[in-house]
Amino acid sequence: MKKDLPNPPKPDSGRCVVIKDNEKFDCHPEEDPNQEKCERRGCCWSPKNTIYNKTKNTPLDTPYCYYPVNYGGYNFSASTSTYVRTFKSPYPNDITELKLSVAHRTANCMNIRITPNYPLPVRYESPFPMIMEQTVDSEQSNLKYSMNKDIFGFKVFHKDGSIIFDMAPNSGFIYADQFLQISSNMPKNSTLYGIGERRGNLRIDTKVWQNFVLFNADQPPAENMNLYGSHPFYLVKDESIQNPHYYGVWMLNSNAIEIIVQPNPAITIRTLGGILDFYIFSGPTPESILQEYHKLIGLPHMPPLWALGFHLCRYGTKTLNKTKEIFLRNKNAGIPIDVQWNDLDYMEANNDFTYDKNSFKDLANFIHELHDQGVKWVPLVDIGISGSEANGTYPPYDLGVNMDIFVKNYTGGIFIGKVWNGKSTVWPDFSHKNVLVYWQKLFQDFHNELSFDGIWLDMNEPSNFYNGAENGCPDTNLENPPYLPRVNGGMLRYKTFCMTAKHEYSDHYNLHNVYGALEVYNTYRALRSLGPNRPFIISRSSFSGLGHYAGHWSGDVFSTWHDLKRTVSEMLSFSLFGIPLMGADICGFNWNTTVELCARWYQLGAFYPFSRTHNTDDAIAQDPTALGDKVLNAAKKSLLTRYSLISYLYTLFYRANQNGSTVARPLFVEFHDDKSTYGLDEQFLWGPSLMIIPVLDEGKSKVNGYLPKGIWYDFYSGVSLQSGGEFLEFNAALDSQIPLLLRGGRIITTQKPELTTSLTIKNPIKIMVGLSEIQTAIGEVYFDDGVTFSGNGSLFSIDIKNGVLNVSILEYNYKNIPKVNEIVILGKTEPVSSVIVNEKNVTTFNYDSTLKVLKIVDLNADISNLLVSYH
Ligand code: GLC
Repeated sequence: MKKDLPNPPKPDSGRCVVIKDNEKFDCHPEEDPNQEKCERRGCCWSPKNTIYNKTKNTPLDTPYCYYPVNYGGYNFSASTSTYVRTFKSPYPNDITELKLSVAHRTANCMNIRITPNYPLPVRYESPFPMIMEQTVDSEQSNLKYSMNKDIFGFKVFHKDGSIIFDMAPNSGFIYADQFLQISSNMPKNSTLYGIGERRGNLRIDTKVWQNFVLFNADQPPAENMNLYGSHPFYLVKDESIQNPHYYGVWMLNSNAIEIIVQPNPAITIRTLGGILDFYIFSGPTPESILQEYHKLIGLPHMPPLWALGFHLCRYGTKTLNKTKEIFLRNKNAGIPIDVQWNDLDYMEANNDFTYDKNSFKDLANFIHELHDQGVKWVPLVDIGISGSEANGTYPPYDLGVNMDIFVKNYTGGIFIGKVWNGKSTVWPDFSHKNVLVYWQKLFQDFHNELSFDGIWLDMNEPSNFYNGAENGCPDTNLENPPYLPRVNGGMLRYKTFCMTAKHEYSDHYNLHNVYGALEVYNTYRALRSLGPNRPFIISRSSFSGLGHYAGHWSGDVFSTWHDLKRTVSEMLSFSLFGIPLMGADICGFNWNTTVELCARWYQLGAFYPFSRTHNTDDAIAQDPTALGDKVLNAAKKSLLTRYSLISYLYTLFYRANQNGSTVARPLFVEFHDDKSTYGLDEQFLWGPSLMIIPVLDEGKSKVNGYLPKGIWYDFYSGVSLQSGGEFLEFNAALDSQIPLLLRGGRIITTQKPELTTSLTIKNPIKIMVGLSEIQTAIGEVYFDDGVTFSGNGSLFSIDIKNGVLNVSILEYNYKNIPKVNEIVILGKTEPVSSVIVNEKNVTTFNYDSTLKVLKIVDLNADISNLLVSYH
């Protein structure tokens, strides 16, 4: 469909001078623009300084070369109802005819697809996540749209009239083969979240110029770098309207993406391929958007209960004896441990699906010993397979060759690179039609030897120690595209495959960002075929929809105070991305930690939904027992507190799995009308009920935390705090625990902690109530067998009003639930003289009139049948 297009017209200055600095959309994002190059693009030239100093390393600022008003490029053709390109864009191979299709999926979700208006050649679309078609009548939708009839453009707005996506007339809409660009003005008063994986604040500052690159990379978290995962999703609060509300936008596209935020405010999305496929969510609340988004991409999986326990890991244990020694000294010190991990060390020559028959000789027995103690075992599996073992000695390679399963190079041979393996590495093509059979066989055989309980998937961005193949990559437009975003290393193949590497489904150029997610998907299916249990997978690389199958850890963070702090916003961003099972390596991965940092990190890490200590082989040990009493005590106390809350945490994961709600919850998600919460990312909630305020700075014994308006109760003492919506100072000495507050109006359940989650969950239940100002509260708790898919769970809602605590059964399939032994009601303002449990008077209660706490003990009651009145 090629047609010679004319050059763009040179804009008259009238169409340039009207544009204010913040409204300028960059027409020459490449380095070194000049007037001639700019005007050749039909754009306006107006450098801010006479000496041009724009390079890739300077922060973004007002572009010198920008689009004129009504830049155009595509005209509406009334005869075909499509858009037809009228002049050349700056990039080769413009798609000359476009079609825009709109579908209302649900009342709150609209899909807008912009595709070529011809069937062939078919443009690439990401195979993951799979989106089911769904439509509702447009009458039922809260979202409306309008299309320009002349130049290409559209608006999406809420039915109340507020604008959600608003293609700016002075931006450059481009749809060329390897450069697609679309811009939208955002409401004047916008608060922006999302866009990842990135290092930075949870809230994105829309008052400065910024760019974010989404291109999966083996890159320890750092500002202005592309990291392990890609999540082209954002969430905006529009404050410029009468009833401010939130909306969300997700683009399904797995090519390299660059997103520009500018202070108009406006957002520009560029991608190097695929199609433009947007899902727009009308809200109105952040939680409702996230639920809708997570349902679309795949609800978070339900992890096994043990996944919510503490995980012990490190790289460099070298021998089984050392692994055992670390495990035992922690167990003997009273550290609760649910999972023992092994890094590369256990493998023979760093090769997947092997184990070292010398230094890890007794590994199979050790795993049985762990199992006898209720502890699970999780090994590392790297995505690459060794490519240089002697013929017939290494089945993962031989079978892969026989099945023709490996990723190919440009000329059709196997693509060869190198990771941890001795000489060379090859990679399974996870888009291949037979890859599941191959992968299943490897896991089946491996499981017959070592009965692992879950799998740790690493290096799957994919990481490669070469930039492409050993001898580089061919010089093609995939390797060197007409536009290169600000990717790490200045090239797409930097520490990964050649872009020309071939998968069955498409070129690596297209599949790169989703390759790791395809590995996770196939691993999930392989593990499912091993038995009835829910798979447990933790993956370093991620893409939208990964949370349906796996959790994630934030990779190779450094043992620094800065990294400690940043892990909070990283974890919270992944809550937005639908991957609630997330955490960072406690005490940091790279470099040596210190006693104080590590103690503080355990105190925070005990509240990561995924709580694991891990570090590199050349740094000092940092398991709870490695650094003396200060670290040991901090780890022990905070992990035992986590274990005491395991039924609450598990219930939050159940909610995430059922509705798509968040587990580690940013304050703005819960208190979405309270502006003071919008920028908060140094504290967080577990679900709606528990506030966690970690200490993230060195040398502090107090910490400031924001408490939204209402009553809050100190979790440890029951002391109540009335907040008018303000920052309060809390004592947080290193040897005490970090502030943990139960929200007034909420009910949670706790249990006496044991050294595994499976023992803890059997202990009697304590119902802990934080009453609201009007003496009411609500909560819920979920139980099931903790491991299988049976779907046979039991869900109870608990509420209190008018001095009556009532449990309602919402589901009652799982019966093996411990008794309720204690009820603690915090904030009971009037004295209590009588307590009736299931129509019987009880005397085993105590009312503390100073603390205003009612405690009822020795209940021995069934949660499925519990009615308590107290007066
Ligand atoms: C990668 C992982 C790290 C692991 C190491 C060795 O750097 O991110 O967690 O310890 O590889 O396998």
